[in-house]
Amino acid sequence: MAHGLQIKDEESGYNKNLFCIPKHYEEDLERVFIPHGVILDRTERLARDIMQDMGNHHIVALCVLKGGYKFFADLLDHIKALNQNGDKSVPITVDFVRIKSYCKDTPTEKMSIVGELSTLNGKNVLVVEDIIKTGRTMKALLSELKDNEPKMVKVVSLLIKRIYRSPGYRPDYIGFEIPDKFVVGYALDYNEYFRDLNHICILKERAKEKYKSNVRLLE
Ligand code: HPA
Ligand code: MG
Repeated sequence: MAHGLQIKDEESGYNKNLFCIPKHYEEDLERVFIPHGVILDRTERLARDIMQDMGNHHIVALCVLKGGYKFFADLLDHIKALNQNGDKSVPITVDFVRIKSYCKDTPTEKMSIVGELSTLNGKNVLVVEDIIKTGRTMKALLSELKDNEPKMVKVVSLLIKRIYRSPGYRPDYIGFEIPDKFVVGYALDYNEYFRDLNHICILKERAKEKYKSNVRLLE
């Protein structure tokens, strides 16, 4: 079973002043949790593992937007490098879905999946996700995917949160297993902010107030 790089509950990350952070976010972040370079290095190895398992046939890489876009782009760059430099190579095509959820974090949460899934019929699909918390979103997406009868589906998630009461969904490939802390950066957002930050960072509590969905709070 996939585990990913385990980041312990007591891990506090790194002093943000030792890294380059966009000026507009400096006061909002507590610590750097996973530096950009470490994300890229781990992604390089995920690309190798994925190609070892799936690299005999055309792959459709399916990006789960918006949070998955950075990981998707970097993972595909590493897969392309393997295709360029290895003994074998396979075509990769790309597709995108967006999952909108309403009434977040309630048991009655409804999801709507925006994207064309019928083109995945008969294909080897690699779903690329940024973070899995309870696994409910991914289970809903997988169930819709299966209705379109792909030949094979594998899921890679950059992050998985260790949540002890979670239903226990685990993807096929995991970048990092992290404690249940709210993280932003590398396309993970808080109310659409912080996607434009390279490192995965821990947000200050008071930044949540500042970036509440009422944009007029911002200068
Ligand atoms: N950050 C951003 N998005 C998320 C998180 C998180 O920690 N957990 C679930 N979605
Ligand atoms: Mg996501």
